[in-house]
Amino acid sequence: MCGIVAYTGKNLCKDLVFEGLSRLEYRGYDSAGFVCIDKHHGQFNFDKEAGGSSPIQRLAEKIHFDGYTGMAHTRWATHGLVDTVNAHPHFNCNKAVAVVHNGIIEGHEVLREQLLARGHHVISTTDSELAAHLFNDEIEQRSDLKEAVMAFVSQIRGAFAFVFMLTQYPDTLVVVRHRSAMVIGVGEDEAFVASDFIAFADKTNNVVFLPDDSFAFVRRDSIELYDFSGRIVPYFVQSLDQKYIEIDKGVFEHFMLKEIYEQKRAISRTIGFCKMLGSPGIDTFPHHYEHWSVATEYNDSIWRQLGLSIEQIKSLRYINLVSAGTSWHAACIAQFFFEMICKIPTRVFLASEFRYMSFFPQEDSVYIMVSQSGETADTLEALRLINSYNVPTIAITNVASSSIVREAGGFLPMQAGPEISVASTKAFSTQLATLFWIANRIALERGTITLEEMYIAEEQLCVAAEVLESTIEMYKFRIIQDLAPKYMHYSHFIFLGRHISYPFAMEASLKLKEISYIFAQCYPAGELKHGPIALVDENTPVVIFSVLDELLYHKLLANASEVKARNGHLVVFAFEGQDELIGIADTAFVIPPVAPLLGPLAMTGLMQFFIYHITRQLGMPIDKPRNLAKSVTVE
Ligand code: F6R
Repeated sequence: MCGIVAYTGKNLCKDLVFEGLSRLEYRGYDSAGFVCIDKHHGQFNFDKEAGGSSPIQRLAEKIHFDGYTGMAHTRWATHGLVDTVNAHPHFNCNKAVAVVHNGIIEGHEVLREQLLARGHHVISTTDSELAAHLFNDEIEQRSDLKEAVMAFVSQIRGAFAFVFMLTQYPDTLVVVRHRSAMVIGVGEDEAFVASDFIAFADKTNNVVFLPDDSFAFVRRDSIELYDFSGRIVPYFVQSLDQKYIEIDKGVFEHFMLKEIYEQKRAISRTIGFCKMLGSPGIDTFPHHYEHWSVATEYNDSIWRQLGLSIEQIKSLRYINLVSAGTSWHAACIAQFFFEMICKIPTRVFLASEFRYMSFFPQEDSVYIMVSQSGETADTLEALRLINSYNVPTIAITNVASSSIVREAGGFLPMQAGPEISVASTKAFSTQLATLFWIANRIALERGTITLEEMYIAEEQLCVAAEVLESTIEMYKFRIIQDLAPKYMHYSHFIFLGRHISYPFAMEASLKLKEISYIFAQCYPAGELKHGPIALVDENTPVVIFSVLDELLYHKLLANASEVKARNGHLVVFAFEGQDELIGIADTAFVIPPVAPLLGPLAMTGLMQFFIYHITRQLGMPIDKPRNLAKSVTVE
């Protein structure tokens, strides 16, 4: 993953690149480094910081040199420990070449052996440093820089974005891209390079997205762009209408808490946006049921947005969802939406597994890529594979300028607003809202539901969003004062769910693990007796998420009773009226009933709030948990 920002131009670069780099912290925050060129002495000045909570900030404060061409990097470690030796930039032996890298060099062990055999002194355990040595060798063998880049890329496998600086060409940034996004910002007598446009969004809106498998020589007043076989690639400068908005925590202690509280509004914005696409001219919900008989037309622009024709929607026979992590949990819940509302068989794939499974392209099918960031490498690579078979693809993401959006056939943006906390909260709930709405909209188009039912579905979403927020308020003081101080002392949790509450239980289990570092394991409740029940004792809370279905509720009740019969400690998230389950629980969170398929959405706020406060009691760095990054741009 890693974030890269580089600059060459009329201004001193240090402040510019550090400002950009701090905006790319979502790509990793293990360590940071900066290098600029001292033209007079023909050498690099550089420094690095590693570990702790804010290496970028520490580095920016400590550096007192500057230059007109420079670059910075924030790392998420893939090869080698988190320390300053492994932090970027890396250099060749005589420090003629500096490199920052995003991605992974495959077969780097062999390359390392070759370089060592040629007498290179490799000081880090990263794959990235090897690029500096190899590129320098190629430059030394050829007088032509373009030929050197071509020779270099022909020896590198994997996914990568590199920026090189060379003491020999002090005003040039050499940018190389293969399956890892890079964008050039074109200013007046200056140029930026970054792995995400937001790094320089308020400096220039004129950008060139580097095409895949290309390299560029970027100077303050020119760009030369080539493909890997050395052919000139014509480029056009695009104007992006996107601003960087500084987001602060406001009155909240953490971004995660702020984002938990933003969910109701984010869901309502999401429904409003979907409705606007689905039915322009109607921007309020039909709260007065008697008006339903007035034929309100839903418009077709939604299908154009998704890159599908009405005929394709009508003849859809299979829906597939591909995603990772929390987005995968949302997709697993959405499987129930598509199957139960649209009556279309639906499969859900983990993006990281997808490319390595057999792929059987089906006629009349669609693949929906669900991703908060729109940059997740696993999901992006799965999308590229599906695209190569010409099967329709749709992106549901929170970042309209992302790679997944650019490469999918159509897209629907969630309206969560920027999510800063690494642990996903409002992206998850708006994914659920978007997927629920689109399932209903497809069903309406196919005549599986009526217009009235579509309106009811939208109303149900609003009710679930309301419950999501009001239940936090109901339990707020109890959680803060009694429950979080009590549950912080447990070192293991088991999470159980059934049917639609099973993927929700997986999400709860992930949330607890990633922010509190407490070990949690999740099972479908029916699997308990097939093994995991051996773990049940009074020291391992079993958290059960109920469902709004009579039959399944009773099955869950039986599972809860099995836990109690073994002296287990039971925490339940149940709905009003589920008195037996509530009665046998050691701790019960009771939630007003909502539409059965929206039970998980309604429970989302309370579940996140509970886990947030357990973590807060433990004093963990909630917004930036160890080892994680917001955007996972490596496989
Ligand atoms: C967990 C979390 C991750 C992401 C996953 C996919 O809180 O945020 O599990 O959901 O890395 O990321 P996106 O949704 O950006 O594709």
